[in-house]
Amino acid sequence: MIIEGDGIRLRAMEKADMPLKVKWYNDPVVNKTLIIDEPLELEKSLKWFEKAKDDSSRRDFVIETTEGEPIGIIGLLSISQKHRNAECICVIGEKDFWGKGIGSVVHSLLLKYSFEELGLNKIWAVIYTNNTAIIKIVEKLGFKIEGTLREDKCINGKMIDLHRIGVLKSEFISCHKSYKVVAKGQ
Ligand SMILES: CC(C)(COP(=O)(O)OP(=O)(O)OC[C@H]1O[C@@H](n2cnc3c(N)ncnc32)[C@H](O)[C@@H]1OP(=O)(O)O)[C@@H](O)C(=O)NCCC(=O)NCCS
Repeated sequence: MIIEGDGIRLRAMEKADMPLKVKWYNDPVVNKTLIIDEPLELEKSLKWFEKAKDDSSRRDFVIETTEGEPIGIIGLLSISQKHRNAECICVIGEKDFWGKGIGSVVHSLLLKYSFEELGLNKIWAVIYTNNTAIIKIVEKLGFKIEGTLREDKCINGKMIDLHRIGVLKSEFISCHKSYKVVAKGQ
């Protein structure tokens, strides 16, 4: 299954994407605003993928240009059918693609898919309070700050606050113009 819109594609993550995932997450500029405890290792990521690909509580997508160039990752974790919610994560690993509106579009596409195809009611995330780019994106899309996790992480010896943010289906304001879900093989 592929989600397409505004010249961007979200396609299911594959095992062959692991070297890029490791490269992106370990890039010191990219991971400055990522909440991860340890650098990724290829061997462990390949093993992780074998489990993750069959895990119905997550959806992992690679963000591609229409020319098929992979530029990042977006996905849902901890999908709860009972509570109709999930956590979202996003990393645009290719920094040349930052600041072009792609982060906004891919979040908008993922939210539409979450609410309309998966029938979820709420998407939430945890972000650094100083991640200006992601804050601008999520505010535009209707997310609200639900709380601040005070001094929740110790990064380079400094205690850091995090925001827990969330958007309800009824609050979602899309910012993409086109949207298409293409089934596999079509
Ligand atoms: C955060 C991220 C997804 C943003 O993606 P992007 O494609 O650059 O975002 P956009 O181009 O849609 O920009 C969104 C807004 O932030 C602004 N912006 C982008 N980079 C910025 C920066 N470094 N500082 C301040 N504002 C910035 C844009 O001008 C835009 O504002 P606007 O809506 O008022 O025009 C991307 O930078 C990224 O993957 N960073 C590393 C990982 C990360 O932080 N992930 C999210 C948290 S888990």
